[in-house]
Order: sequence, then structure tokens, then C-alpha cells
Amino acid sequence: MKHNFISPWKHITQKKYIKLNIPKFPCSDYTIVNLSDIHLGYYLDKSFLENLVKDVIDISPNICVITGDLISYNINLDIEILSPLKYLTQQIPTYFIVGNHEIGLYRSNIREFLDKLNILGVHTLFNQSTIIMQSKCIFNLVGVGDFIGERFGVPMDIEKSFRDIDINLATIVLIHRPNSIRFFQGYPFVLSLSGHNHGGQITKLGLLSSVIRNQGKFLIGLKEIEEGKFVYVSNGIGYSRIPFRLFAPSQIDVIKINNS
Ligand SMILES: [Fe+2]
Repeated sequence: MKHNFISPWKHITQKKYIKLNIPKFPCSDYTIVNLSDIHLGYYLDKSFLENLVKDVIDISPNICVITGDLISYNINLDIEILSPLKYLTQQIPTYFIVGNHEIGLYRSNIREFLDKLNILGVHTLFNQSTIIMQSKCIFNLVGVGDFIGERFGVPMDIEKSFRDIDINLATIVLIHRPNSIRFFQGYPFVLSLSGHNHGGQITKLGLLSSVIRNQGKFLIGLKEIEEGKFVYVSNGIGYSRIPFRLFAPSQIDVIKINNS
């Protein structure tokens, strides 16, 4: 597998396999593909998304989740760039949460963007939950808004996001910014999936955090915060402004859950 430790000009996305044992999860051999921070519109285009969709279909996960910053906020978004998603959703149930870039572009009209994704068959979770039922595997999937939404009248609402969950079921929560997980105390979940940090580079520590890594916070990768309760932060896939990744390869996360 090729690595793009420093990848300004040749974009290579690798598959990152993560194996988790979550005793409270209802089934084993369950696969989630997480796509975070694709940032379509700056450097990555529709043909990139077409190839990414093919890769996900080849993996054949149980579900695919897109954990925010699918687009970049300061572009004139031609929604046609998203059209390959309809081939993904025809084969793989796909769920989306907003990142700061979707909120930054659509602001109080974020519903307009979510409606466009719904037309492509993408299930959107904006401060809400759904129950995933696939054979004997039944669990809550919660999708939380982004912190920046407060500026535009579409705030992150954790209480509302969890309000309708079935407390007898395991819960997976999607939240773009891992820094927001500090507000989740008292809310039940076995796994949270995030991105945003681009391998640690989009933090106060900047490029330095790519080198020093986690340092006790939710910057990069996997952390078991309690027994059987995990936080996972993806490196993400694309670039927001500068096409540069230092020790933070672009990755499709392939998360395999067992419950032994
Ligand atoms: Fe972000």
C-alpha cells in the first residue's frame, strides 16, 4: 500500500482497517465505512468521487457514513459534483452528517443542502437519530450538527440528537468535530466517529500535532475512553485549502465490529 505522508501533488487514498470489539454491539462481522473530509470542490472533483464510490462498493460494507465536510465552503457548489453518490446509495445504505464547511456554505439554509443529498438517496441526520435494522443487527445511529451552526441559527443540539434513541439498543454517534465529544458526558454510546482534524493538522497545534499525535485528546485515531466505549477520529480524505498532509495519509476507514 502506498503512503502519502506528504502528499501535495499526487493524491493517494488508502484503506485504513480498524478492528473493534464492542461487547454491547448486537452483532459481529459488521462493517462500517467512514468517509470524512472529502472536501470536494477545491482539489478533488467528480471523477475522484466516482472512484471513491467504486472503492466503497468493492469493500461492500453494511453501511457507509459520511462524517462531514463532504464539500468545501468557499466554492460555488455545482451540485452535479455529488451525483456519483446515487450509485453508492443504490447499493450501500449511506448516512451523512454536516461538517463546518456545509454549515459555512449553506448557513441557515442547510436544509436545502440536506434535501439535495436526500434526492441522491443519502440519509441525512441533522441533530436526529435513526434505528438501523439489518437482519439481527439493530442499533441507534445518532447524527449531531456542528458547533459552528450556532452562529447561523442552526446549532448543534446534542439533547435533541439523542432524544428518540431506544435506550435498550447500542448507539453509534456521528459528530464531525471530535472536540465536541467533551459535551457528550451522560449520553450513552459505544462508538463515536469523527474527522475534521485532518490527522491533527486542523488543530491549534497545526502541523506539530501530526508529529506528536494524540497527547490525551481526541486528535487522531482510536481511543477506548471506557471499557467497550470508543472514540475514533479519521485522518479524512481531502484537503481544505493547502493540498498537504504531513504524516496524515488520506484514508477510507473500514471499521469492523465484533461483539465477542
Ligand atoms: Fe471540518
